[in-house]
Amino acid sequence: MSIADEIKARLDLVAYISETVPLKRAGRTYKACCPFHQERTPSFIVFPESQTWRCFGACGEGGDIFSFAMKQNGWDFKEALAHLAERAGVELKPLTPQQSAEEAATERLLGLLDEACRFFNRQLREAPEGEEARAYVERRKLNASTIEAFQLGYAPDGWQHAINHLTELGYSVPDIIEAGVAIRNDQGRVYDRFRHRLMIPIRDGRGRVIGFGARALRKEDQPKYLNSPQSPLFDKSKTLFALDMARREIRETETAIIVEGYMDAMQAHQAGFRNVIAQMGTALTDDQLQSLRRYAERLILALDPDEAGASATMRGLNVARESLNQTDTALLGPDGSMRAASRMGIDMRVIVMPEGQDPDDLIRDHPEQWLGLVRNAEPVADYVIRVGTAGLDPARATVFEKEKVARGLLPLLTATESDLHREANVQKLALRLHLSEKRLMEIAVESRQALAPRRATDPRLRQRGRTAGMDQAAREWRPPRPPSPDAPPPPEAPRQPDPDEAPPFDWEEGPPPDYESDLPPEDDDLATSAPPPEAAPVAPSAWQPRPANPQEAYCLSILLHRPELLYQVNRAFRETAEHAQQRFSDPIRRAFLQQALGALDPDDFREPGHQAIMRALRAALDQDALDALQYVEVIIGPALRPQIEALQRAYAPLDNFQDRLRDPLRSELHSIQKQMQREGRLLPGPESELIDKAFTLRRVRLVSDNEELRFLIQEASPEERPRYQDVLDANDAAIIHLDRALRQRATQSQA
Ligand code: UTP
Ligand code: MN
Repeated sequence: MSIADEIKARLDLVAYISETVPLKRAGRTYKACCPFHQERTPSFIVFPESQTWRCFGACGEGGDIFSFAMKQNGWDFKEALAHLAERAGVELKPLTPQQSAEEAATERLLGLLDEACRFFNRQLREAPEGEEARAYVERRKLNASTIEAFQLGYAPDGWQHAINHLTELGYSVPDIIEAGVAIRNDQGRVYDRFRHRLMIPIRDGRGRVIGFGARALRKEDQPKYLNSPQSPLFDKSKTLFALDMARREIRETETAIIVEGYMDAMQAHQAGFRNVIAQMGTALTDDQLQSLRRYAERLILALDPDEAGASATMRGLNVARESLNQTDTALLGPDGSMRAASRMGIDMRVIVMPEGQDPDDLIRDHPEQWLGLVRNAEPVADYVIRVGTAGLDPARATVFEKEKVARGLLPLLTATESDLHREANVQKLALRLHLSEKRLMEIAVESRQALAPRRATDPRLRQRGRTAGMDQAAREWRPPRPPSPDAPPPPEAPRQPDPDEAPPFDWEEGPPPDYESDLPPEDDDLATSAPPPEAAPVAPSAWQPRPANPQEAYCLSILLHRPELLYQVNRAFRETAEHAQQRFSDPIRRAFLQQALGALDPDDFREPGHQAIMRALRAALDQDALDALQYVEVIIGPALRPQIEALQRAYAPLDNFQDRLRDPLRSELHSIQKQMQREGRLLPGPESELIDKAFTLRRVRLVSDNEELRFLIQEASPEERPRYQDVLDANDAAIIHLDRALRQRATQSQA
């Protein structure tokens, strides 16, 4: 049990919340007016059983006792941990001397930067020398409240102003250098880094100043922006400018707009577009995306129209593709970020700015046009196709040229969007290139085929214990289960060997991929004996199974709380199969269909850890000796325990429910549930969520099996071919019925 769990076990959420919020009992829940936003009808609900809370009103926040304490008191997790631990009588391990020294140093530097920020700000507001900077700010049309909100400043022209001020306050010269405010040159002379510049404080997500971007006031001063140096405190690639100020709006609109520069972001905020952040001139990085993805469902990139802009965008999109596919696990945190993880994927769009304008100019002069651009932002796939095929005339280009373009674009097109969209994307590209969809599918598959066999036979790749997610997935890649043409499985044939025959966690060697961190491990001998770079394993294409998947995690997080719900899932599959079978009279085809819609099994999960957990869950339900969860706990190896714990912590079954209810109804959650139950309608609860997710997982699997089958059919002998075709048809029918069931379920629960 982690410390956090121990604290949770000792404290009662209802008691804790009711100390500050007047809770009223409502059936098995408690409700009150939400303490985090203004409202008159109560939509803040506390669930004693799961020890969670959620606002079903405007703010939509929710979580456990930690997130409540953090939100109510403005604490970070560590602070909440300290306070709640004390209250629960749980002892936190004291920091080691080295840790506390580091912590003290960080605190000191943060304090120093904060003082520097105030100093610069005062110069801009009051100092006679600040006149030129004030004129500059006015020319850029930044008003007083923006100066105040962003704490803009002016670094006076001179060598010692900031240093003198800070040393007077008691800061040491080495600290001032370390914080990036001063520089020591080769001769040992120490001087102010920022001179005669407009100072733009850069803050971390919590609003603490960690560095500065400093704009030159005169054209001839270079560089245009001088930024704080990279340091443990300030890492440009992990920081997004204005995120602290944009976060709330990003959460509320579930949309983040990414612009290129400081000025763009500040101008946007000034005009009331508060979900705008800036990436400070670098390409969008993985870290930045991961942190955004916790708040935003939609990312809109507003970028320069020129060629550099377009290629930067494409680069950014490639990062996005990799990062969004790679690590869902990073999203499972104690802070309620499961919300994001439970989503299909991220909706990414692109705004291309009118020639010669950046958001700064446009928003200043025509805010209404900006709104229009945001509304009409182009889906990323369309953008990729347009930019990626620009200058190519499909009527004149050779097939070879067109296929080369396709090869470059397909990985992006088939992965940035959800699986449900990728067929449409391929269609669009096919249309644009005048190539057949079938050919494009082949190209996508080919690039994987080229990769897969070599991987499987290369012992060096096998020997790596812990691998980054993508590699892991590539190694775990297995062909679909083409049924043996001459022996179709009997209708009841299990798809998997009996779970008891093999221990449930014997996948490959070594511990599972590191669950908490998505950093690839240090390369072992591979680094020295690896094939030359051009032969090195390429990132697998989009058609590769995804290593970890939020849907999978979400499924398991529910099942790990209520394993018996698996029976309901399997019943739902069975009912759908029965329904679908009515169309087929051929018994063999019916059997295939039944197989396609058989019970949820480990193969519906792609992440190896998830597969192992699913195997354990299934075995747990097949025995009677122990309670199912106890059984899982007993048989699961220590390697998977952290993963299970994270999944259990992430459990938030009601996450999507609020989205399905119309606003005024949200506060009436409980009575609605009752009413629906009475009327025999779908109960929006974990069961329903789980079935939706399970159906979606199966759908994804069937779609990818079929991609594979199409390929196999082409190579199959004439005798084999019809059988494969039968499976393919059965899978297609199953997909159609899954879609129909998903749609039906969605309308039923909205009714
Ligand atoms: P731009 O050159 O597009 O600047 O760089 P901008 O934001 O439009 O600035 P103005 O309007 O000319 O004042 C975009 C971003 O790239 C980074 C900054 O973060 C800038 O906001 N950059 C640019 C630098 O870090 N250093 C530079 O010298 C230039
Ligand atoms: Mn500009």
